[in-house]
Amino acid sequence: MLHKVKELIGEVQAFNATTKDEIETFRIKFLGKKGLLTDLFNEFKNVAPAERKEFGQALNTLKNAAQDKVTLLKDTLENSMEQKGFYGDLTRPSEPIELGSRHPISLVRNQIIDVFSRIGFTVSEGPEIEDDWHNFTALNLPEYHPARDMQDTFFIEKNPDLLLRTHTSSVQVRYMESHKPPIRTISPGRVFRNEDISARAHCIFHQVEGLYIDTDVSFADLKQTLLYFTKEMFGKSKIRLRPSYFPFTEPSAEVDIYWGLETETDYKITKGTGWLEIMGCGMVDPNVLKNANIDPEVYSGYAFGMGIERIAMLLYQIPDIRMFYENDVRFLEQFKSVL
Ligand code: DAH
Repeated sequence: MLHKVKELIGEVQAFNATTKDEIETFRIKFLGKKGLLTDLFNEFKNVAPAERKEFGQALNTLKNAAQDKVTLLKDTLENSMEQKGFYGDLTRPSEPIELGSRHPISLVRNQIIDVFSRIGFTVSEGPEIEDDWHNFTALNLPEYHPARDMQDTFFIEKNPDLLLRTHTSSVQVRYMESHKPPIRTISPGRVFRNEDISARAHCIFHQVEGLYIDTDVSFADLKQTLLYFTKEMFGKSKIRLRPSYFPFTEPSAEVDIYWGLETETDYKITKGTGWLEIMGCGMVDPNVLKNANIDPEVYSGYAFGMGIERIAMLLYQIPDIRMFYENDVRFLEQFKSVL
């Protein structure tokens, strides 16, 4: 009898289980109402008195061992289930990390800044709510000047002197008022025009203004800078300057880039001419220099202005300007790979 109990103690100690059912079967076998321990305790009366002490001790050892084993196995099982809930399945492949993307307007603006900063231009900014002086009058557009109609303006109702700037040329004036030549700066920013929204035009868009003032600046300097810019930006350096009119520059020109007619898209973009207008420019009008307290007898300079949307539409073949403002993720996420 004693021998049998000792064997059972060995069995209990060696037992292992990984599921609830196995543990329960084990518990019933040893500790259940009709289990082995109940049977063995019933045997007690049949044991010879001399052996009772040792038998009793052995039975208690078996009982404790069985109870400890059940507790231990249950705890282990619970812990491991808790851990699984906590960490999940550690062998699963991880979620892909979604990278954000920059807005194409920011991409192109940064690219333009990069190109000009390599030849010594700084970046400057001005307010979006501008006064009449900086947006018009100082730029040689006095009150009632017909060229004011070239840019439909949003005025601030309560103060007729204030408006939403119609171009970043206003920053030119502010910059000249607060800096002495030599000046080399570009001014990227948002501008506003009271225009009908269509695939080609929007009431809010972005421009970059450029300004270079020093002694002996000539039109040739302007042309060289434009050649450098178009080569860096588009990889194309065939340009032409068409005489034009802007009140703040004299002479003035519009810059066309030779885009080519190699594909049907080219044909559409350039309307079959191969040429594409990308910006306005000219030599800063002496009146503008005077208005900003710069002596036109000593200094001269050039200025240029371009629309960022237009350039982004060209570079990325975007057919509709409204796409820039809709914030459709399917559109925006296409720029992920561009830095
Ligand atoms: N401000 C002009 C516009 O919004 C663009 C422009 C043309 C800027 C000629 C210039 C310039 O600085 O010289 O259409």
